Amino acid sequence: MLDAYAVTTSAWTPSGQLVAWTSIVSDNLRHAFLLDVMVDPRFQRRGIGRQVVLRAIEEMTKRGVTGIHVDCAADRAGFYEKCGFKMCAGGWMDTAQKPLEK
Ligand SMILES: CC(C)(COP(=O)(O)OP(=O)(O)OC[C@H]1O[C@@H](n2cnc3c(N)ncnc32)[C@H](O)[C@@H]1OP(=O)(O)O)[C@@H](O)C(=O)NCCC(=O)NCCS
Repeated sequence: MLDAYAVTTSAWTPSGQLVAWTSIVSDNLRHAFLLDVMVDPRFQRRGIGRQVVLRAIEEMTKRGVTGIHVDCAADRAGFYEKCGFKMCAGGWMDTAQKPLEK
């Protein structure tokens, strides 16, 4: 299942406990979408979230993909701005909740 991602990055304790994760899906040409940034609440506000995001973006940039997208709730925008994103309007549709109307 992880093969569906272009990149995943994560952070672990020395004893092997997963504390942070993010992933990217991409066309591997121009666009990459950052997904599911998660930091264990016990490890938040230590810069770990920002590091896993920056590592994922760095890897995509090395591959030549330079357009990085993210969407988030308004109360998370400050975090993404600290990661270097310029926040702008976006869109989201969940077809499991609301079937596509033709
Ligand atoms: C949002 C989340 C990923 C942030 O991870 P984190 O490791 O706590 O963040 P960092 O410590 O790397 O923060 C980097 C900077 O962003 C700021 N920041 C972190 N969370 C923030 C928030 N919710 N709003 C505004 N700024 C925030 C930090 O203060 C820090 O700023 P500084 O460099 O000036 O000190 C984490 O709180 C989390 O996992 N939340 C639950 C899941 C979630 O909401 N994921 C995002 C889905 S869109």
